Amino acid sequence: MSKRIVITGGAGFLGSHLCERLLACGHDVVCVDNYFTGRKRNIAHLQQYPLFEVLRHDITFPLYLESDQIYNFACPASPVQYQVDPVQTTKTNVHGTINMLGLAKRIKARILQASTSEVYGDPAVHPQREDYLGHVNPIGPRSCYDEGKRCAETLFFDYQRQYNVDIKVARIFNTFGPRMHPFDGRVISNFIVQALRGDNITVYGDGSQTRSFCYVDDMISAIILLMESRSGFFGPVNLGKPGEISMLDLAEKIIRLTASTSHVVFLPLPQDDPRQREPDITLAKSELGWSPLVPMEDGLKETIAYFRKVLAE
Ligand SMILES: NC(=O)c1ccc[n+]([C@@H]2O[C@H](COP(=O)([O-])OP(=O)(O)OC[C@H]3O[C@@H](n4cnc5c(N)ncnc54)[C@H](O)[C@@H]3O)[C@@H](O)[C@H]2O)c1
Repeated sequence: MSKRIVITGGAGFLGSHLCERLLACGHDVVCVDNYFTGRKRNIAHLQQYPLFEVLRHDITFPLYLESDQIYNFACPASPVQYQVDPVQTTKTNVHGTINMLGLAKRIKARILQASTSEVYGDPAVHPQREDYLGHVNPIGPRSCYDEGKRCAETLFFDYQRQYNVDIKVARIFNTFGPRMHPFDGRVISNFIVQALRGDNITVYGDGSQTRSFCYVDDMISAIILLMESRSGFFGPVNLGKPGEISMLDLAEKIIRLTASTSHVVFLPLPQDDPRQREPDITLAKSELGWSPLVPMEDGLKETIAYFRKVLAE
């Protein structure tokens, strides 16, 4: 059955893929975005759908709409972008989340929060399960995002306990794919753009720090499965791809796949950069019947093809 769905941050990387998937399933989708990091080009191809609407709006201000489901994805996601205006980042996570939860409460919509593995901070346990409470600096340059997202989770669970709002919380781990912003400073977009331009590939620290990466198609499937999961299952649930790769190995893989002449150079590690990050997805497997399917190399090829096109424009 067709549902009315609001997606905040719908013009961003993940939000635009979510709009696309939900429209293809026949839903009525309203994309709400203030274009802080999102781009009109990410959603331009969706204008062909009669059930697609776009609303330029900043979620730190109240919003009144009718809908059955709300995906709350609005928030700059990369350190380079969320540190441009850290106060606005916290406001988006706190005021924005209150506004969207207030809307869900009023119209009795189910609401899903795009939370993040950053709520675990620089983790002392590995891999991270949902019951690990995290190791987060409350006053550092990353805190506007990490603590903002933690507070957003608190608000979700308090709206559930206090007002019985129907919530779902996804803790999203690093995701990559076409429509990432080419200059958002995230490691995959950075390395691919540098490799395609023949620039030096900048690895922070000695490159031994590890991350795990999930391809966007797998992530969107998981997010929709969570939204549709049984009532009474709130999460938080880790969504990501287990299996770590070091930053140095990633740089070498991208150099090979782009047939680039670039060389790796080493720069100092940024403050509070986690050394290791890998999800335990046992809960996602048992509750959602989900695990990621796309091999990293296939995802990288798609992403490289996208950046090649963007850089040629
Ligand atoms: N991509 C990842 O690997 C990842 C990992 C963990 C969590 N997340 C979360 O998923 C969500 C989407 O991430 P993304 O990678 O697509 O980032 P993105 O920057 O591409 O998308 C965020 C979108 O939110 C919009 N936005 C920001 N502030 C807003 C505001 N106040 N009002 C309205 N719109 C606003 C931006 O313009 C942009 O379109 C974010 O909440 C992010 O924290 C992403």
